[in-house]
Amino acid sequence: MEKIGVLVVSYGAREAAMVDALSRSQNYQVDLYVADKQRNPFNVERATKHVVIPDLNVDAICRFAEENKANLDFALVGPEKPIIEGARDQIESRTGIPVICPKQEYAIEVSKVQQRLLFEEIAPEANPRFKVFDPKDFNGTEEVKQAVYSWLDELNNQAVVKPDKPTAGKGVGVWGDHFNTREQLFEHFMSNFQYGIVLIEEKIDGEESSFMAFCDGKHLAVLPATRDHKRAFDDDKGPNTGGMGSYKDPKDYLPFMTTLDRENELAVAQKIFQRWTAKMPDASAVRGVPLYLAFMHTREGPKILENNSRPGDPEIINILPILKTDFVDVCYGMLHGNLDRVEVQDVATVLTYKVPSSYGGYAEVFPSQVNKAEVDTPVNLFAAYALSKKYGDRIRVYPGSMELRDGATYALKSRVVGVLGVGDSIEEARAVSLEGVDAVRGGALWNRSDIASEAGIWKSIMHLQQLRA
Ligand code: GLY
Repeated sequence: MEKIGVLVVSYGAREAAMVDALSRSQNYQVDLYVADKQRNPFNVERATKHVVIPDLNVDAICRFAEENKANLDFALVGPEKPIIEGARDQIESRTGIPVICPKQEYAIEVSKVQQRLLFEEIAPEANPRFKVFDPKDFNGTEEVKQAVYSWLDELNNQAVVKPDKPTAGKGVGVWGDHFNTREQLFEHFMSNFQYGIVLIEEKIDGEESSFMAFCDGKHLAVLPATRDHKRAFDDDKGPNTGGMGSYKDPKDYLPFMTTLDRENELAVAQKIFQRWTAKMPDASAVRGVPLYLAFMHTREGPKILENNSRPGDPEIINILPILKTDFVDVCYGMLHGNLDRVEVQDVATVLTYKVPSSYGGYAEVFPSQVNKAEVDTPVNLFAAYALSKKYGDRIRVYPGSMELRDGATYALKSRVVGVLGVGDSIEEARAVSLEGVDAVRGGALWNRSDIASEAGIWKSIMHLQQLRA
């Protein structure tokens, strides 16, 4: 078997799933070099070399790549921060090691305004109405307030406030969820506007799906649709988070979608991809997953909520463990520009994240449930891992914001551990995922209990049917 070396730039459970997929390659023996945000126990155990770079700064990542250059065939960058700070450009120019992620210029996740302008040009039918508020254009609070209120008149208050810069979903405020009066909306707006450009978009009613495709610059290898749940609490209530869990149906589209919804979202994505890359001097600049699109399926067809320039966390965890195509071959396809179809098993997957009580505002909303500060408390995954005796590869346990220290593992501040269940139906996959999160011991961790629940899915189906009635 050919031996290769791969550098993985890692943030959390998403990259542990990448490390897992690379380690399980049937065609290559992969030596892993991991530049990690923390001593992730999963990655430490599998890596030939592991380095912690807490802020994932690109210069430190490059130095690690330079030190190990002789052993590296390519690099894979998962998290958005190093991507938008130019990891690809700098690693490639300083070391010559090819990197899988978009070049800085095309990492359009960096700016919500840039995304909206691109989509307005190529697929206006899928772009919600929006207005850009730039502090440079206003003299004082009263002037901007007038402009905001006049836009709210046009939108009938049905508005979403978004800072231009990425905030992992956390700076986004939605009318009816995060505020119910113009005063509250304006307060939220100003808390972001003091730091820079803010968008106010029309609020779109519908049901969400995440579109992802691996890309070599010329071809999109489209992956099955997934559904992410960004809100902190059950029934999609509470603040936005990075994502509390996600699911995939055995089909390549979701239970609330029609085949036409799927065709429509594919058509929008292909159109954007083709026209966007046609203007690039070198389309290989957009390797990786440069066009993650969060779609809202509405009465009028799919609308784009946002774009990311990397695989979704957690959504890619719904896909990587069930790839039929060897993941290293997928990576080489992205690097060589001959990416072919990527085959995925026709099974359901459900991912549930377990998180600390400080995450997603849980401690403030449910103070009686929180009896101790959980950050930095030991967490052990033995019982969760032991479930593989019962389920084999139908359970995967991926540590995220978790640190290995003196032989023990500790919960840090963000999404601590993701447990993926695989099954012939969503119900079966969900049962495995929930059994796995229940088996995580220690810390005052909590999780949403309704990811992929029958009631939740039924609600999505009914919601979309009512909108279309
Ligand atoms: N789950 C959404 C994201 O990756 O940003």
